[in-house]
Amino acid sequence: MPVKNRFAELLPEITAWRRDFHEHPELLFDVHRTAGKVADLLRSFGCDEVVEGIGRTGVVAVIKGKTDTAGRVIGLRADMDALPIREATGVPYASKTPGKMHACGHDGHTAMLLGAAKYLAETRNFDGTVICIFQPAEEGGGGGREMVRDGMISRWGIQEVYGMHNMPGIPVGHFAIRPGAIMAAADQFEIVVTGKGGHAARPHDCVDTTVVAAHIVVALQTIASRNVDPLKQVVVSVCTVETDSPAHNVIPQVVRMKGTVRTMDAKVQDYVERRVGEIVEGTALALGARAELHYERGYPVTVNAGANTDYAAEVAAAVSGHVETDTPPLMGAEDFSFMLNERPGAYIFLGNGDTAMVHHPAYNFDDNAIPFGSSWYAGMAEARMPAA
Ligand code: NI
Repeated sequence: MPVKNRFAELLPEITAWRRDFHEHPELLFDVHRTAGKVADLLRSFGCDEVVEGIGRTGVVAVIKGKTDTAGRVIGLRADMDALPIREATGVPYASKTPGKMHACGHDGHTAMLLGAAKYLAETRNFDGTVICIFQPAEEGGGGGREMVRDGMISRWGIQEVYGMHNMPGIPVGHFAIRPGAIMAAADQFEIVVTGKGGHAARPHDCVDTTVVAAHIVVALQTIASRNVDPLKQVVVSVCTVETDSPAHNVIPQVVRMKGTVRTMDAKVQDYVERRVGEIVEGTALALGARAELHYERGYPVTVNAGANTDYAAEVAAAVSGHVETDTPPLMGAEDFSFMLNERPGAYIFLGNGDTAMVHHPAYNFDDNAIPFGSSWYAGMAEARMPAA
């Protein structure tokens, strides 16, 4: 199963879709134009069912194989949203909306899955059903979570799910994957420390919130250095510290801090959340202040199931001959995790070559990756549901 010849023929067409999406980036759930075009194309391919409005603006397409002897159903997922970034690529098909940009290559993911859908609808050389999933709001809105909440998994009886993300730094046409945790859970927190403000020359009359906040920042670093097993990954970052004092001689009444926690394991995540709470409360208490913690869970850990990782790697190896099966996990987060929490599956990286990193204004998806990505999506369906 090398790169399918059909995708060499379809490359100009898929590239044109990709560049059209690139010119018209849309954010979060507000992907109406993109989703509309995706749905129109899916209908033009002759998909058996195309449903819009799943998870607000997600699109689901059903493609039935020539046979269905075992009731197998495989989900293939792409994301459709862009980022609030001003594009600096200088390409002729650059964003026409200043301040919005496909800087994470989701235009490429959408186009590659559309290409696979076109091929699968033409050939139907599999025994079962393919569900193509186009989700909104990967970049912080939890579009994957919304599609799951909308009942997508049970409505179409999805049994396994597979997703892909392009990755700068990996050669075009090469794949990388790992079993287990591949992307982190991302939580965020806000800490509000309240003391007693006053004259900076009379600290004994005050409860100095700045000093309390500083102790909290330092103490939080002991979660990674002293509490969590050093062989487990954890990041605790305090990223903003803001006081209500504009002056050099006023002790502030209130200090607010915001930060993020990244973990790779649900047990570590629970433990870190508890320790953040204990440290915030205990440190404030010890120094005579009060502190409130608002801790919010974000995307969960993206976990590749062992067997499904092997299936994904086998298809990638057949498509390109180059697959790294022990790529290091990343501390970024991905909301395909909500689908992987529902059903076994895997998430794989596809090389984007020596380009700027995703989320950079000069990032650009490499269209030469399209035949590899489309072949992998289509290959997953054919390999997991071989023609009867
Ligand atoms: Ni992305």
